[in-house]
Amino acid sequence: MSEPRFLQLHVADAEAQRAAACAALLEPQARIAPKYFYDRLGSMLFEAITALPEYYPTRTEAAIFAHHGAAIAEAVGAAGTMIDLGAGNCAKAAALFALFEPAHYLAVDISVDFLRDALRRLQREHPRIEMAGLGIDFAESLDLPAGRVHGRPLFFYPGWSIGNFTPDGALAFLRRVHRHAGGGCLLIGVDLVKPKAVLEAAYDDAVGVTAAFNRNTLHHLNRVIGSDFDARQWQHVALYDEAASRIEMHLQARSPVHVRWPAGERRFAAGERILTEYSYKYRPERFDTLLREAGFVRTRCWRDESDTFAVFVAHA
Ligand code: AVI
Repeated sequence: MSEPRFLQLHVADAEAQRAAACAALLEPQARIAPKYFYDRLGSMLFEAITALPEYYPTRTEAAIFAHHGAAIAEAVGAAGTMIDLGAGNCAKAAALFALFEPAHYLAVDISVDFLRDALRRLQREHPRIEMAGLGIDFAESLDLPAGRVHGRPLFFYPGWSIGNFTPDGALAFLRRVHRHAGGGCLLIGVDLVKPKAVLEAAYDDAVGVTAAFNRNTLHHLNRVIGSDFDARQWQHVALYDEAASRIEMHLQARSPVHVRWPAGERRFAAGERILTEYSYKYRPERFDTLLREAGFVRTRCWRDESDTFAVFVAHA
């Protein structure tokens, strides 16, 4: 049995990242990029979010695959290489191997270090699938090295992270996938528009896990830029903007706060907010149009009974 191969192409530029994080704090609407959610603790908190009763997408997406898996697999057709964007522990793709029977599996994440253990374990469980791990920043560029995609590509992007792009960013991302998906298709999860109260509860749960996830960005940022944020001074805020169809997550200063870091500082008034995340929700017709604008054809979607979530298959 062969071992999975790993290739790390993305090289983090620590100085550029620090400069970008500081500049974002100094914008009129201060921002912390969502990537600062995901340090070790943040990734554990996100895992906990997916188990919250209020946070419906994880279990709903899984239920759609459980109920409609055979029809989805038929729409996808034969998969030469399953390309898993943001693979992490590879669990979602692995659960679908029996349905799609890919000959090759390419797990993509920003760092192959996130993939190594899971992919080695998976390779032992599925010796007939040829596996490889690739470290690229696919949100920025999707240049897959030659020789890594065999046969029809199936791009797999579950987990409704498409909602964390702005609609323009989502279109640019879908166009990039389309450019690489020639002859194959995209399988993608999309969170749908729903009542404000349901959405706001999903992003501001009763136990406070999402609040901890949001505030943890401050600890992460303190380590990256050397700032002196005190997480206790910041309140988690999650609001649904119905006109823009998006959840906005903010951190709101409980009182006047003075934050310093080696190359700068900012004073925040009581009630002033730092934007940490947008999570866009789509109507199925709107997302279908976006896929077609990106160049995809023969789109199909499956939803749960309550129209909470959708899984789309779109052919390139
Ligand atoms: C990762 N992403 C799809 C999640 C979402 O629902 O937008 C991140 C998240 N933020 C708060 N809760 C979950």
